[in-house]
Amino acid sequence: MMKEISLEGKTALVTGGASGIGYAIASEMIDAGAEVVIVGRRADKLQEATEKLGDRCRWYQFDVTHVDEYDQLLNQVDEKSPVDILVNNAGINIKKDFFDFRAEEFDRIVETQAKAPFMLSQAVAERMKERKSGNIIFISSLATILGMHEIQAYTVCKSGVKGLARSLARDLGPYGIRVNSLNPGFVYTDMLEKTNLKTPERLKEIEEKTPLKGFTQAKDLGMAAVFLASDAARFITGIDLVVDGGISSSFLI
Ligand code: NAI
Repeated sequence: MMKEISLEGKTALVTGGASGIGYAIASEMIDAGAEVVIVGRRADKLQEATEKLGDRCRWYQFDVTHVDEYDQLLNQVDEKSPVDILVNNAGINIKKDFFDFRAEEFDRIVETQAKAPFMLSQAVAERMKERKSGNIIFISSLATILGMHEIQAYTVCKSGVKGLARSLARDLGPYGIRVNSLNPGFVYTDMLEKTNLKTPERLKEIEEKTPLKGFTQAKDLGMAAVFLASDAARFITGIDLVVDGGISSSFLI
């Protein structure tokens, strides 16, 4: 293995790491040699994931919208080793007609998908700054490239974090902190399960229209996250890395 791709000696904090894409990122980072801390809201899910992920994984029950508790969380994590890699992965979605969207639903999505990644990155970068190195990854979405049906508030947030990665790449670069976003194609997770993409016809249609044929696997995001976080990407910052089998770069008709 190319030595630059190794994450040995690094500690990664993955929010929402007990399931879906977050779990796959945690798993690939562990395989690449990192220590991984996963956080989420449900202790049973975190416990179960940690048992599968092995000795180099630990967990804290933590709701990312609890902005006032970030320092407490980071102090606990730092006791073992400070965070070298932050993956802002935790997310929710509400899919509904634009005209039915209520302000409190908008706020709920923004709190999890925009405010939390923004404020947690600030709290973690404050500590990375002292050490003159660090790596932050946001998860964006194809909704930042293609207009998608009934996910307007989600699109606002995902476009926001994609822009934030660029903005922070500029502001945090001088401190040796790289910041990028990862843009997944359709990945079959709990979140996708809740959308209208789950019918066999829709799934087949997506698979067929994808130039590389098939669905993006969570592991594909895991491997891309390892690359972005590793020294193999040491001069890459401010990009949105699309992992979608070519969907967004193709004319699908
Ligand atoms: P998922 O539902 O399996 O994972 C989301 C995780 O975030 C869950 O573990 C959930 O418990 C956690 N979470 C939600 N709110 C939280 C909070 N307040 N505090 C702590 N943890 C919280 O879904 P998936 O698909 O793995 O989503 C991961 C990320 O990828 C999300 O940001 C999502 O928007 C994004 N994404 C997913 C795509 C897909 O096709 N599945 C496509 C593009 C982006």
